Amino acid sequence: MQKIKRIGVFTSGGDAPGMNACIRSVVRTALYNNTQVSGILQGYQGMIDNQFIEMNSRSVSNIIQLGGTILKTARCSEFRTVEGRKKAYDNIKAAGIDALVGIGGDGTFTGIEVFSREYDIPVIGIPGTIDNDLYGSDFTLGFDTACNTVIEAIDKIRDTAASHDRLFFVEVMGRDSGCIALNTGIAGGAEAILMPEKETAIDDLIERLEGAVAGKKTSTIVIIAEGDQNGGAYNIAKHVKTKFDFYDTKVTILGHLQRGGSPSSFDRVLASRLGFSAVNLLLAGETRRVVGLKGNEIQHVPIEESINNKAFKLAPDMIELSHILAI
Ligand code: F6P
Repeated sequence: MQKIKRIGVFTSGGDAPGMNACIRSVVRTALYNNTQVSGILQGYQGMIDNQFIEMNSRSVSNIIQLGGTILKTARCSEFRTVEGRKKAYDNIKAAGIDALVGIGGDGTFTGIEVFSREYDIPVIGIPGTIDNDLYGSDFTLGFDTACNTVIEAIDKIRDTAASHDRLFFVEVMGRDSGCIALNTGIAGGAEAILMPEKETAIDDLIERLEGAVAGKKTSTIVIIAEGDQNGGAYNIAKHVKTKFDFYDTKVTILGHLQRGGSPSSFDRVLASRLGFSAVNLLLAGETRRVVGLKGNEIQHVPIEESINNKAFKLAPDMIELSHILAI
């Protein structure tokens, strides 16, 4: 087993609340085990551009509560090339880095999977994305915080919708996953939730809204996952308006608001546990694993399994109750 003297830690892809808490955990767990840490700035781009910073215990002070990532992040197309990865490898070797911890989504995991296969460097992936769309962990870093941010917005919209008897369409992130939409739709008491995993035709939505009107509801909120097949909140609102011309309809796209903010206690603890586990796995000689939470246990799966498996995390009871509780 190769002795790991220095770990490189990086964040890649979309930033997510909890990434800083995770960086802190990786750094302090490594130092506790007499292992040095290099922070790699801007993910794979930083590996190619030779952007490394020495991390000590003070480097990660007062960041556990910060959203975003102090190591910055980027989406790096050059790393998809053999030449790009060669440059990256030469730079990390020159920096004395023996192993990598990558915090990000499936794009990040795909990168370290290829890199470790080409250069036999030990790697561990940590699921960090607000979308909660990764296999191998019940929750990804940032999902809980993003949901809390969304329901804060829904509650505010509810106030004005109820005051004006309006119909609001609220679009949330999630890429191809409806996790944010379903969880916040239930937590926000939405009348309808549209998500890519469960197609809803606009006619079915209209039928549902007719039920709300018949039920004497004077204000209504519809949550729409950005990946829903009906083409987004504005398009859906336009169609619904043709049927409900008496209804004052409004559209709110929450956008990148969902990516920022101080991480929740759940995300801070999850980040701390995943960072701790990732370093201990590397020092125990493990490689090409993705750590995650299963129930309340920290587990790890082969990185290929995490990349090649689609995570379906919409519990059937949640889909069913989202309809019933909106009556
Ligand atoms: O993956 C996180 C995410 O926020 C998705 O929910 C969203 O579709 C995408 O990233 C937005 O990407 P960008 O920040 O590059 O616009």
